[in-house]
Amino acid sequence: MKFPIYLDSQATTPLDPRVLEEMLPYFTERFGNASSIDHLYGSEASEAVENARKKIARCINAKPEDIIFTSGATESNNIAILGIAEKHAAKGDHIVTCVTEHKSVLDVCKHLEKMGKRVTYVPVDKFGMVDLKKLEEAICEKTILISVMTANNEIGTIAPIHNIGEIAKKYGVLFHTDAAQAAGHIPLDVEKLNVDLMSISAHKMYGPKGVGALYVRHSNLNAKPFPIIHGGGHEQGIRSGTLNVPGIVGFGKAFEIAVKEMGEENKRFDRWRKYMWDVFREKSSPVELNGHPDKRLSHNLNVSFEGVENKALIRAVCSKLALSSGSACTTLNVEPSHVIMALGLNPERAHTAIRLGFSRFNTEEEIIFATEFIFQAVNKLRKIKLRF
Ligand SMILES: Cc1ncc(COP(=O)(O)O)c(C=O)c1O
Repeated sequence: MKFPIYLDSQATTPLDPRVLEEMLPYFTERFGNASSIDHLYGSEASEAVENARKKIARCINAKPEDIIFTSGATESNNIAILGIAEKHAAKGDHIVTCVTEHKSVLDVCKHLEKMGKRVTYVPVDKFGMVDLKKLEEAICEKTILISVMTANNEIGTIAPIHNIGEIAKKYGVLFHTDAAQAAGHIPLDVEKLNVDLMSISAHKMYGPKGVGALYVRHSNLNAKPFPIIHGGGHEQGIRSGTLNVPGIVGFGKAFEIAVKEMGEENKRFDRWRKYMWDVFREKSSPVELNGHPDKRLSHNLNVSFEGVENKALIRAVCSKLALSSGSACTTLNVEPSHVIMALGLNPERAHTAIRLGFSRFNTEEEIIFATEFIFQAVNKLRKIKLRF
């Protein structure tokens, strides 16, 4: 076993060697600019980009021209929300989102509020499931966009995207979903889900960092956002800037592999998650599960060990395990997770929550080792606390 064992797959996943292999020629001999198609170097690069675009489109049942390459899900979320707010400024000024969204959605919404727009943050239940009734009630004549994430990056809860898509359709409101954590891990079909805009990131599915996409349903003319970066008019004018060709090639390969292998992988992750959870309950109770018991990402387990501060536990295991609390923190200031706080439970749950993210490169042996190492550390920390 190689230590520390990586168990932080919601932060990022390791690059799959099959992906790297596909990318390598585009750093060296095939280095062309995908826009410079007057010569072989450029046309080779352009062809590689278009192949990747087709692969990615196929993975979500979209048309290739509806895939806009970006630097990742943060940028895709920014384009979707800012770009739609600006485009439809004359029509409305109201956005509906959810309290447990990623900061790259919440902070964009806060920015828009400062600019005079209105945002409704729909609450979630104790499992992190968005309240559909409140979501529907929030929609008004001036609502231009609903933005709700497909799967949560901290607690793994999977939202009822299909139902939200139906609500959006019923009221003629555009629907954006941040699928950064879901893409490549659960099946996604933009037609079935009635999604108009979808953010995806390559590095959450064993692809490279710094590349992602925004799916834009061009058949709905209202769905094409205004650009937030202006320049050469790349990517149908939605996202200017020279394309990251090796990254895009890797993204295409990563998504293709993920869709092919997710069924088997998820079976393995479900088994590991159940094993860990059963052992934690048996050996280190009281322990609580954060997130939905079954409508959750297979490769995510988020638990709170009562009385054991997450930072202390992460520090206690860090020589052997790489895991995180999933909450935002700076060196001086540790904030409790806004996601766990939003579940409406005892605030201690947020200070004790740890996130375990499995990857395709973890082994059963590593999971068994990690489980034992964690429960022993939990029990030791509890004993130390009792002594003081
Ligand atoms: C749900 C969610 N949205 C957006 C992002 C940002 O993605 P990226 O790192 O590609 O900018 C992340 C990554 O942490 C995420 O988990």
